[in-house]
Amino acid sequence: MNVTETTPARPIVLITGATNGLGHWLAVRLAELGAGVIIHGRDPDRLDATARAMQDEGGGRPHGTVLADLADLSQVDQLADEVLKEFDTLHVLVNNAGVGFGPPGAARQLSADGLELRFAVNYLAGYHLTNRLLPLLKRSAPARIVNVASIGQEPIDFDDPMLEHDYSGIQAYRRSKLAQIMFTIDLAERLRGTGVTANALHPASLMDTAMVREMNFTALSTLDDGGEATLRLINDPALAEVSGRFYDQTVDTPPHPQAADPEARRRLRELSDTLIAQALGATQPDRERSPS
Ligand SMILES: NC(=O)c1ccc[n+]([C@@H]2O[C@H](COP(=O)([O-])OP(=O)(O)OC[C@H]3O[C@@H](n4cnc5c(N)ncnc54)[C@H](OP(=O)(O)O)[C@@H]3O)[C@@H](O)[C@H]2O)c1
Repeated sequence: MNVTETTPARPIVLITGATNGLGHWLAVRLAELGAGVIIHGRDPDRLDATARAMQDEGGGRPHGTVLADLADLSQVDQLADEVLKEFDTLHVLVNNAGVGFGPPGAARQLSADGLELRFAVNYLAGYHLTNRLLPLLKRSAPARIVNVASIGQEPIDFDDPMLEHDYSGIQAYRRSKLAQIMFTIDLAERLRGTGVTANALHPASLMDTAMVREMNFTALSTLDDGGEATLRLINDPALAEVSGRFYDQTVDTPPHPQAADPEARRRLRELSDTLIAQALGATQPDRERSPS
């Protein structure tokens, strides 16, 4: 990790979905660079395997391990509780965990809360986790939020946000990825002046990972390609003040035009808060539960 006036000597980084693919790559590399890495996974054995790889290949044990199935909002909520209780500092949150298109022709899947799975895991879990962790990130500033999205984006249909009609895994995935970028733009606006930045990226096209293999696509990129691009958003001092951007790897790129539409972003926030409140029985929207 580069150490500058704006980055602490031992940055603490939480990576969701650190048990495979890009998240695993980042965990090992950040351990090698001397960061304190909190790894998240949904399976204790796979978390142990990542911890061992960090030790064996990166020369450093995790700063912490946290377990949660992100397809269940009550587990996301408990994950936030645990992070807030166990760690007094968090400099970087990497919302990386994700579900791909699924196998060709696969049927629509639902989360534990009855929500369309890709929307729930790829977007809504990160939305809720981030909102809950904002007080900690602000206290730890300078801090960064990195949302691992994709260049594959489609607009959200607010008449059918859960894709109940004409489902396709590709469409579900792409909508969830645009939702992450819309959230990133909102976050940057809300966090202006706090020392916390938020950016999103497409790490690389068709890296050789489990989700790409499941989709039956041929890999076109390596984990090094996507890993280095993501690492740049985590630790490049030149990006310390940059917020609200979407990068195609390292190139600042306009996302799908729906992301630039404030009304669409407002509708997405409203939908997200309603779904979370329904799932958790909360009475206040996420944005109001996080003191600014
Ligand atoms: N691969 C690409 O070419 C590509 C391109 C653009 C963007 N991306 C994005 O990059 C990120 C990482 O993808 P990847 O290619 O590294 O995929 P991957 O190898 O399939 O890894 C996905 C990670 O997410 C975790 N995950 C999935 N569902 C979860 C759930 N319900 N609860 C908790 N964790 C869950 C997985 O956990 P398990 O280990 O337990 O399965 C795994 O750690 C994703 O956001 C993806 O959309 C990837």
